[in-house]
Amino acid sequence: MDTVLLSETTDVKEVLPLDAPLPQSRYSFSQRFRSGYHALWYRLSDGLKWSRGLYRETPVGHLTQFRGKRLARIAVLQRRFDVRFEQQYAVMTAIKSYDYLDILDQAWTFLGKPRPVGGVMHDVGASNFWYARALHAFFSPASLTGVEVEGYRIYSNGYSRWDYAQGYVADLPRTSFKVCDYTQYTDSADTIIAWFPFVSAAPVLAWRMPLRVLSPHTLFRRVAENLSPGGLFVMVNQGCEEAMIAFDRCRRAGLQFENSCEVRSTVRPRRIPPVVSWWRCC
Ligand SMILES: C[S@@+](CC[C@H](N)C(=O)[O-])C[C@H]1O[C@@H](n2cnc3c(N)ncnc32)[C@H](O)[C@@H]1O
Repeated sequence: MDTVLLSETTDVKEVLPLDAPLPQSRYSFSQRFRSGYHALWYRLSDGLKWSRGLYRETPVGHLTQFRGKRLARIAVLQRRFDVRFEQQYAVMTAIKSYDYLDILDQAWTFLGKPRPVGGVMHDVGASNFWYARALHAFFSPASLTGVEVEGYRIYSNGYSRWDYAQGYVADLPRTSFKVCDYTQYTDSADTIIAWFPFVSAAPVLAWRMPLRVLSPHTLFRRVAENLSPGGLFVMVNQGCEEAMIAFDRCRRAGLQFENSCEVRSTVRPRRIPPVVSWWRCC
C-alpha cells in the first residue's frame, strides 16, 4: 500500500501521502447497468422532492451495550463535550454520533492543535445529516450547513432524507440542510468537512448513486474555492488506500496538505480504520 506510517501512539497513526494508484477510468458493463438503475431512482426522488413531514427519532434513553474501554471512552466524550446523544436519538444514531465525535477528538489530539471553534462551517455530502449534533458539539460553529446532492431519497417508512434532516437540525442553532450539488455551491466557509467523499466508483454504487456524481476533482476544487483565507478542510476517508486517491485529487485541485492520521480504535468496530486529513487552500 502506498502509505508511510509514522510516530505510532496507541490508537492513532500518522499517514503520509505518496503516489496514489489511479482508480479505474473505464466502467464495466455491470457498473454501468447499476449506475443507470440508480440514476432512475435519483431522478425520481429529485423530481418528487417528497416530504412526509419532519421526522424525529424516539430517544433510546440509555445505552446498555457498552462495557470496558468503549464505555469509558463514551463517558469521556459525554463529559468533555457535554453530550447525551441517547437522550435525543435512537440507539444506532446515538452510537454513530459518539463514534464520529470520538474520531474527531482522537484525530485532533494527534494533531496537537486547537480545533477551529466558531466560524462558518459546511459539511459536504451530509446524507440526512444525522451527525449534525456531533459536529456542533465538536466545532461549536457560528453556522453549520449540511449539503447533500440526493436530499430527497425516500426511506422504507415513507419519510425522506429531507424529513430526517429537518428533525436532526431542528434544535441546533444556525444549522441547516441544503439539497444541492456541492460542486455548484458557492458560499464561503471557514471550515469545510467531508466524511467519506466519493473518490472511486465502488462506494458510489454501494451508496446507490449514479456514477456521474463521481467528480472528486470538481468537488475538491469547489472546496478550495469556497474556503475563506486561512480556512481548513477536514476530510475523513475509508482507510489508507482510499485516502491516497483522495489526497492525490485534493492536491491536484489546489489544496495544501497539512497532516493526516489513521484512527485505529473507534467506538464502532470497523474493518477499515478511518483516515482523517487536514488541508488548507494554497
Ligand atoms: C459515502 S456517503 C457519506 C455520507 C455522510 N457524510 C456520512 O458520513 O454518513 C457520501 C455522500 O455524499 C453525497 N454526495 C456525493 N457527491 C456530492 C456532491 N457533489 N454534493 C453533495 N453531496 C454529494 C452522496 O449522495 C452521499 O450521501
